Amino acid sequence: MPTDDPLYQRLQTLHSLLHHHAHRYYVLDSPEVPDAQYDAWFQELQAIEVQHPEWRTPDSPTQRVGGRVLDGFDTVRHRVPMLSIRTETDTEASGAVAFDTRIRKELELTDDTAPVEYVAEPKFDGLALSLRYESGVLVQAATRGDGEVGEDVTQNVRTIGQIPLRLDGRQRPVPAVLEVRGEVYMRRDDFEALNERQRQRIACGAKGEKTFVNPRNAAAGAIRQLDPQIAASRPLSFFAYGWGEMSAPEQGDPAFVTHFDGLMALNAWGLPVSDLVQRCAGADALVAYHRHIGALRDRLPFDIDGVVYKVNRLDWQKRLGFVTREPRWAIAHKYPAQEQMTTVLDIDVQVGRTGKLTPVAKLAPVFVGGVTVTNATLHNEDEVLRKDVRIGDTVIVRRAGDVIPEVVSVVTSASSPVRGPVFRMPVACPVCGSAVVRETGEVDHRCTGGLYCSAQRKQAILHYAQRRAMDIEGLGEKLVDQLVDARIIHGLPDLYRLGLSSLAGLDRMAEKSAGNLLEALERSKRTSLARFLYALGIRHVGEATAKDLARHFGSLDPVMDASVDELLQVRDVGPVVAHSIHTFFAQPHNRETVEQLRACGVHWDDEAGTGSAPQTLQGQTFVLTGTLPTLSRDQAKALIESAGGKVSGSVSKKTDFVVAGAEAGSKLEKAQALGVAVIDEARLLVLASGDAAP
Ligand code: IVH
Repeated sequence: MPTDDPLYQRLQTLHSLLHHHAHRYYVLDSPEVPDAQYDAWFQELQAIEVQHPEWRTPDSPTQRVGGRVLDGFDTVRHRVPMLSIRTETDTEASGAVAFDTRIRKELELTDDTAPVEYVAEPKFDGLALSLRYESGVLVQAATRGDGEVGEDVTQNVRTIGQIPLRLDGRQRPVPAVLEVRGEVYMRRDDFEALNERQRQRIACGAKGEKTFVNPRNAAAGAIRQLDPQIAASRPLSFFAYGWGEMSAPEQGDPAFVTHFDGLMALNAWGLPVSDLVQRCAGADALVAYHRHIGALRDRLPFDIDGVVYKVNRLDWQKRLGFVTREPRWAIAHKYPAQEQMTTVLDIDVQVGRTGKLTPVAKLAPVFVGGVTVTNATLHNEDEVLRKDVRIGDTVIVRRAGDVIPEVVSVVTSASSPVRGPVFRMPVACPVCGSAVVRETGEVDHRCTGGLYCSAQRKQAILHYAQRRAMDIEGLGEKLVDQLVDARIIHGLPDLYRLGLSSLAGLDRMAEKSAGNLLEALERSKRTSLARFLYALGIRHVGEATAKDLARHFGSLDPVMDASVDELLQVRDVGPVVAHSIHTFFAQPHNRETVEQLRACGVHWDDEAGTGSAPQTLQGQTFVLTGTLPTLSRDQAKALIESAGGKVSGSVSKKTDFVVAGAEAGSKLEKAQALGVAVIDEARLLVLASGDAAP
């Protein structure tokens, strides 16, 4: 072997790096570097092996798909191998065109007017499972392992509520043997709640507990450990996306013509199939799907790392066949990674609207989750100490969903051994110098300065001006900074005392923008009670609670005068929220602020408020799908809610109506399958108005 060849030495280094990190990832469920870094090393090694095939040894990480079987689990040989999909990391939506061209060529399709039908699906970011049902009963659940042999994780999988233990044969007869293939995952909200619980446990001194790096590792960790009690305590979810072995139609069992048929059958048998699964005719529809899901990605309740396209016709899938272990009829297109490595340049402490102090890592700029990130939250002092993040460290940053980027962990092996000092929260507020306190039983430190603290004042004003609050366009962070720093504004009512002369002379405030701002302020005076209550920034009162309060009380004075007991009568209001509202209105300066705002002309119609619209849709559940002709999704939702109805994200037997617009997706088909009433926008408007004939 050419031991002195630098390229060969690099290959050796890559071997050991990849072995080390694959073990941490697959076996320990505790990765140290982001996936993107692992992938980069893997591809670098692949490239060297292409150049020098003679260096490719059987023990090269490229020769193993990953996932050594843990000692404690029985092994399962998959009767139909669990394949992987070819994954392309180009992030251009147009990548689908190349795939379609290849498929058409291989199928020798020449009629350009007949597009190939595909099924487009999200690429769920979890752990692949194969669920074996015999006579409709779940008899075995296995992980993918190396694709041929996986681990028997039946006990753990049985604890997942979303996975049926017995298939539902009421709509379609159940096959004698069925292996369902799909992904077990953890929803983002379940993940946040689990980590919050873990943080509390650690704070209470529980031994051996840790927080999880991301939902996928939390899910994989729950499935691949030996105690089913632990699996049961982790909130796991599941999506089916295919099948392996299935008994033959000769035995009277169903045969599918398309992949989509198969998914609909799985769904009818009681398995969750994502609503985002869609049939797409031709490359253009795939490109549109890629864009659509890309735009939705941040708002989805779970992590995805890309989209998958599959040829819909099963006879065509068969004709296309496989190359090594990947089907020719499917491809995955990845979105930008949600985790990356970077270095901590500094640790700042920021003061929030309620005085909460948050340590924030200032980072060397890094492109993650589709944007360049330079700040990431470190949550609180305990978290910084637990992760032991210091200036100069190399860290993993994660940006997923609408959640603010966070520092997940320190990569010790990549950090300099000479480290900055251990982080400590300041004892005085970095903005106003007031004392900082941490109340017993709380994880957060708070500035005691209240509205004396200009940071809290600024945040209160920004919150008030938000689109979902008073919607004052043009009142952004830079302007608020100037207005507060120049002592032009002390409290919220001062906003309505601004004039052209007070704005003139501020940075970037031409006469035109000053005029626009004054107009926006004027417009904001006409609002709704729910928005106003939300805008006040009462601790624990989010938009939903503000709406509930408005609906319950109908006007402001009864809210201001409500006792804690009266507040507890409001839907979803518990003791913490009730106390917070009561305390807020017990402060004379808060009541004074409200009176001054009203005196400045802020008003709303009690009668036309959310609470007093006729409750024509009381108790009815709606699902929206497709594009409606005149109403946006938010508007349709607001209309239904204001008439007392509920809007749900997925169709079930409990759904009363599916409101379908143009290009409605699988929700429409599901509604038809379940016999749920499907209506259009016009019918919705009639129902909401209360004029509908019974
Ligand atoms: S289909 C023959 N569909 O991605 C194709 N896989 O490399 C078999 N995955 O670990 C897989 N979402 O668990 C398929 N909608 C989807 C998927 C999906 C996520 C995972 C799968 C596997 C990897 C494929």
